[in-house]
Amino acid sequence: MTARGRVSALLPDFPWDTIASVKAKGASHPDGIVDLSVGTPVDPVDPLIREALSSVAEVPGYPTTHGTPELREAVVSALKRRFGITGVDPAAVLPAIGTKELIAGLPRLLGLGAGDLVVIPEIAYPTYEVGALLSGSRYVRADGTAQLGPEKPALIFLNSPSNPTGKVLGVDHLRKVVQFARERGAILASDECYLGLAWEGRALSILDPEVCDGDHTGLLAIHSLSKTSNLASYRAGFVAGDPALVAELLEVRKHSGMMLPYPIQAAMTAALGDDAHEVQQKDRYRARRAVLRDALQRAGFRIDDSEAGLYLWSTRGEPCRTTLDWLAERGVLAAPGEFYGPRGNQHVRIALTATDERIAAAADRLTS
Ligand SMILES: Cc1ncc(COP(=O)(O)O)c(C=O)c1O
Repeated sequence: MTARGRVSALLPDFPWDTIASVKAKGASHPDGIVDLSVGTPVDPVDPLIREALSSVAEVPGYPTTHGTPELREAVVSALKRRFGITGVDPAAVLPAIGTKELIAGLPRLLGLGAGDLVVIPEIAYPTYEVGALLSGSRYVRADGTAQLGPEKPALIFLNSPSNPTGKVLGVDHLRKVVQFARERGAILASDECYLGLAWEGRALSILDPEVCDGDHTGLLAIHSLSKTSNLASYRAGFVAGDPALVAELLEVRKHSGMMLPYPIQAAMTAALGDDAHEVQQKDRYRARRAVLRDALQRAGFRIDDSEAGLYLWSTRGEPCRTTLDWLAERGVLAAPGEFYGPRGNQHVRIALTATDERIAAAADRLTS
C-alpha cells in the first residue's frame, strides 16, 4: 500500500459520496434540483472586496505567514466592532487559508499525537474528528464536561453557533468549559465561523470578556469569512487568542508554508473593514430562513435549535435517510444528520444557501 493509502485509511469514508444516488433522484425533478445539502454561498462577492483583490494582483513577492499588519489590525477592530471582543493583540492573530484546513491541521500543529485526547461536540462538523485522526490522537464526542470523567483532554473543540444544529451555547456553559479546560490543562479551540449569523438572541465568542474575563490563556477563536462575506471560494479565515499559542502556530507554519496569498490578504482586509456587505448578506439569509422554516413546519417537520447559523436542523421523527428520500422525491436535497455523528440520525440539515428563486421553489414543493 502507498503512504497515501495508509493515511486515508485512518479516515472515515467521505460522507458526501454516499448521497450521490439521492442527489440523482432530486436532479430528475422537472424544474431542477434545489440543492440545500452543502452550505456553499451563492451570492456574489461584494465589489469592494473584489476591487481590493484585483488592486494588488500585480504584486509578485511571497506573502508573510503572519499576514500584513493591516490585515491583523482589521481583524482586531472587526472583532471589537462586530462582537465586542477586546484585548486581542494584533500579534495574536494568524490568517489561515480557510478554516477547514486550519481545523484539520490544528491538533498536529499543536503537537498532539498518540496518547492525546481531543474532545469534539456530540453532533459535529466532521473536520474536528478528521483533525484528531490525522494527528494520531484519540477523540471523544461530548457536550458536557461531566461526560469526560477524570479524562485530561489535550484539546477541546467547541462550535457555537453549531454546524449542523444551529445551537448557541450560553454564557454559563461557555464559562464552565473555559474553567474546565484550564483546570485540566486543555487548549480550548472555539470554531466561531457562524458567530455573525445569530437570528435569535446573542452568540458569544470564547474571547468575549463576559466569557473569559479578558484572559485569553489557552483559548483560540477560529473565524471564517466564507459565510459572512461570501468568501468560501477565496479561502479566508484566521485564528486569534492566546498570544503564546498563536506564536507557536506561527512558528510551525513559518516552516511549513500555508501562507495566505497576498491578494486574498488584501481582500480580507477590505471585507473586515466593511460591515455593510455583511449586514446585507445576513438580511438575505434571514429572509430565506423565514420562508424555508415556515414551509418545513407546514410540511410537518419539527425544527430543533437553529437559532443561529446557516442551517435548519429538521426532523420528521424517522431515520434521516428516509427523510432525505422524501425530500429528493420533491427535488430537494438535504444533508443527512448522521454525517455529523450518531445522535444526528433522525435529523436532516437544510441549508439556507440557495438563491431566493430556489428557496421559493423549495417552499412551493414542500407545501403543495
Ligand atoms: C463549523 C464549520 N467550521 C469551519 C468551516 C470551514 O469553513 P472554511 O474552510 O470555508 O473557512 C465550516 C464550513 O462549512 C463549518 O461549518
